[in-house]
Amino acid sequence: MKHEAAMNETIDTLLSHRSIRSYSSEPVSDDMLDAIIECAHRAPTSMNAQEISLVVVRDAEKRAKIAALAGGQAWIAQAPVFIAIVIDFHKTQLGLHKAGLTQVIHESMEGYGVAAVDAGIALGKMMTAAQSLGLGIVPIGGIRRNPQDMIDLLGLPPLTFPLVGMCLGHIANDAAQKPRMAMRTFRHDERYDAAGYAQAIDAYDATIMEYWKQIGRSDGLPWSANLAPLKGVYYPQVKPVAARQGLLNDK
Ligand SMILES: Cc1cc2nc3c(=O)[nH]c(=O)nc-3n(C[C@H](O)[C@H](O)[C@H](O)COP(=O)(O)O)c2cc1C
Repeated sequence: MKHEAAMNETIDTLLSHRSIRSYSSEPVSDDMLDAIIECAHRAPTSMNAQEISLVVVRDAEKRAKIAALAGGQAWIAQAPVFIAIVIDFHKTQLGLHKAGLTQVIHESMEGYGVAAVDAGIALGKMMTAAQSLGLGIVPIGGIRRNPQDMIDLLGLPPLTFPLVGMCLGHIANDAAQKPRMAMRTFRHDERYDAAGYAQAIDAYDATIMEYWKQIGRSDGLPWSANLAPLKGVYYPQVKPVAARQGLLNDK
């Protein structure tokens, strides 16, 4: 990397990120798992609301079910640990009730956004902790594909929602790092500037096709075509099931 003056082991770990979809059967030790979870527990949350809970799934049968619910993602069944990150306005409601107040935030766009940010921070902390221990991870948004079944499987109460998960385990086959779009499409100094986007997207489409070729994936698409799921709501059950959970998102 270019910035020698700003290198250390943590930054090395962060810069070496790649999602892993091939895991060995070696279990993750309790010490490692506890340390990874403590890193997420220590993470900041908006207003210190701590409206996030984790459900750790090690049971193989349950992981196989989650793999199927997520649309047939074999690595969920293969990795020895799956951690579901849950929006938890059930917990905060207990606090508000104790204080004699009524909770409304869970019905709002603000509430969903705040909880999604805090869930993402927890996910990021766990990814870095796991990778620093030499373990592999892959985030799993696929748990929103059949959210009602996930809620039932994990025993989640009203005012909660399984937002994202993470596979965790020892790496069997390592993955090549996926290239990113040019830094100028990501970092804007002082003022947003989209002027170079079209050109950067053309260049990135070519880069990603070269990447697919290098890793032997003949079915790989350019980045732009790979965005096809965004032409609709790719997990349409999120809104109705979240609403049934009491997360109305209409305020
Ligand atoms: C919130 C989130 C949800 C994701 N969901 C899935 C998923 O369900 N299945 C999967 O295989 N990868 C999933 N990924 C991994 C992305 O596909 C991956 O991060 C992206 O292709 C970039 O590759 P890299 O992580 O190897 O750099 C998810 C990533 C994020 C951040």
